[in-house]
Amino acid sequence: MSILSKLDDYKYWRDNKLNNYTTNLEDCLIEIDNPLKLKKSEKDRVRFLCNSNNFALFHIQKQSDYVKTVTNINAQFDLVEIDKHLYMQDQSLAHITPKVEKNQSEFIPYTNRAIGWHTDGYYNDIDHRIRSFSLFCANPAISGGINDWIDPQIAYILIREENPDVAKILTHPQALSIPEHKKDGKTRRAKSTGAIFFIDELTQQLSMRYTQRKKNIKFLDSIEIKPALESLSKLLNTSTQYHFKHLMQSGQGMLCNNVVHKREAFIDDSNNPRLMLRGRYFKSIN
Ligand SMILES: [Fe+2]
Repeated sequence: MSILSKLDDYKYWRDNKLNNYTTNLEDCLIEIDNPLKLKKSEKDRVRFLCNSNNFALFHIQKQSDYVKTVTNINAQFDLVEIDKHLYMQDQSLAHITPKVEKNQSEFIPYTNRAIGWHTDGYYNDIDHRIRSFSLFCANPAISGGINDWIDPQIAYILIREENPDVAKILTHPQALSIPEHKKDGKTRRAKSTGAIFFIDELTQQLSMRYTQRKKNIKFLDSIEIKPALESLSKLLNTSTQYHFKHLMQSGQGMLCNNVVHKREAFIDDSNNPRLMLRGRYFKSIN
């Protein structure tokens, strides 16, 4: 697909995308009867929404073992190849919950603080690109912890419609770099350089790699990149009919093709802390 370079291809793809996008959150939420064996209609609906919107929300009844259940749901969408995350607890899903141990609480996801807009695994190299993730709420906070997200393909369209030059610079192959991550003199993660919007070689879908974080990030050495990043940041922070905002309840989950998202800060009951289960995958849901 040459939507980045050919205007006619772009317009055709854009019109198709906007016509098929569902803007009502309730229409994106699927009630699942038996999470261990999804009905064909439930699976079809998840796949349909992951095609049109790049995400689907679902709700399941209370389970005795959420890790087992969510792992099983994900496997029904061929999501089995897990990203080997630094702090993965049991070879399957990461437990996103405030941590008391110092080394983990250095990372914002394991605190109750807000997390700015990002796509998951933005620091990974191409061979470890995260194409989908699942997020499941086992236990919400007392207050806060709302998630905001938007389909990256829609974000690209909105930016390109406003200013094609801004969209173009964000597709530059050196737009965003994350320096290598070293610990105790050893390289834990190599330097990662790439575009913010790009066509993923494997899926041929327009995808996104982004963080709003300012620390430890390097951008392309060009005068156009700064205003382009500001436009992107402004767009993400605006509320359009295409943006979604939702506080996940216990038993609710999301399956998505790595939508760009953020998390608000939250207040916890220390005896019953917020717990989200997250899986990251190299495959997309389609
Ligand atoms: Fe995330």
